[in-house]
Amino acid sequence: MAKVTIDGKTIEVADGTTILQAARMIGPDVAPPTMCYYSKLKTSGGYCRTCLVEVSKGSEKDPRPMPKLVASCRTTVMDGMEVKNNDSEKVTEARKGVVEFLLLNHPLDCPVCDQAGECHLQDLSYEHGSAKTRTDFERRTFEKIDIGPYVQLHMNRCILCYRCVKVANQITDGRVHGVINRGDHSEISTYVEEAIDNDFSGNVIDVCPVGALTDKTFRFKSRVWFTKPVDAHRNCDKCSGKVVLWYKGEDVLRVTGRKDQWGEVEEFICNTCRFETKKTSDWTIEGPRKLDNHSVISANHYEFLKKPKELTINTVKPLAIEGGNN
Ligand code: SF4
Ligand code: FES
Repeated sequence: MAKVTIDGKTIEVADGTTILQAARMIGPDVAPPTMCYYSKLKTSGGYCRTCLVEVSKGSEKDPRPMPKLVASCRTTVMDGMEVKNNDSEKVTEARKGVVEFLLLNHPLDCPVCDQAGECHLQDLSYEHGSAKTRTDFERRTFEKIDIGPYVQLHMNRCILCYRCVKVANQITDGRVHGVINRGDHSEISTYVEEAIDNDFSGNVIDVCPVGALTDKTFRFKSRVWFTKPVDAHRNCDKCSGKVVLWYKGEDVLRVTGRKDQWGEVEEFICNTCRFETKKTSDWTIEGPRKLDNHSVISANHYEFLKKPKELTINTVKPLAIEGGNN
């Protein structure tokens, strides 16, 4: 076991635990943000540098501070380690730089992006972003690609976090995809089109932290904060069948996996549940989804709706800005 202190809060964790995992065990107040780490995917993390922290004391045996900030998702704790996240000016400064770097090529098109309201980069930009850019070159642009009948890839928004690559690699057969080229020419290989032809391909949408991979059956149907998320399940022979149905009026606009407080799915769901069962009669409704989320989605006050049988779905007027060209 190892004792680690993060922002003044101490916890004892098993050897081999990363700083990020230990911080999450303490709670959201000290947990660093993440854009590429995903607890349900093996070998994720280490790409985006959003989770950098300062190690002010290496361990009980060797109390020297670590000379540079470290990626908390890839650094394991040592007994007696002391870590600064929110308490460190160096970290705040570095995080600002990381956000600026991520936004070098990412367009600020939140008003027309389907991910708005549940985008981790949007949240991060509000917290650490700068209102001005220091660059005057054009952001790189790509054609949108349809990846099969259900998923669209818009590389303009991709931050190369590798989560979709790892989903395709770890829950499908054979690796026929990945990031091709290097530096600012890097892009998700269009071979992903082949990798995506399987029963679990829709999960790339759930893991994408930005709006690069979107659900074609949901695009531009509604802003997400105007929908009403409801927990539901069905008997499925491919996955657990436990999902969230996103209602607008009486229509199920989209089906997603259930996400935990870190915005990561609890279980991957199959394409049949996600794309092909969109009638209320297909599902057993459990009740309103409790959103532990600071984003605008939680603006719908479900705490008044206690039991599933009391559930009523209100009709919401369609938005005027729907049908944008992105
Ligand atoms: S498409 Fe999304 S999930 Fe895939 S690498 Fe880009 S940002 Fe990450
Ligand atoms: S979350 Fe740690 S490097 Fe991306």
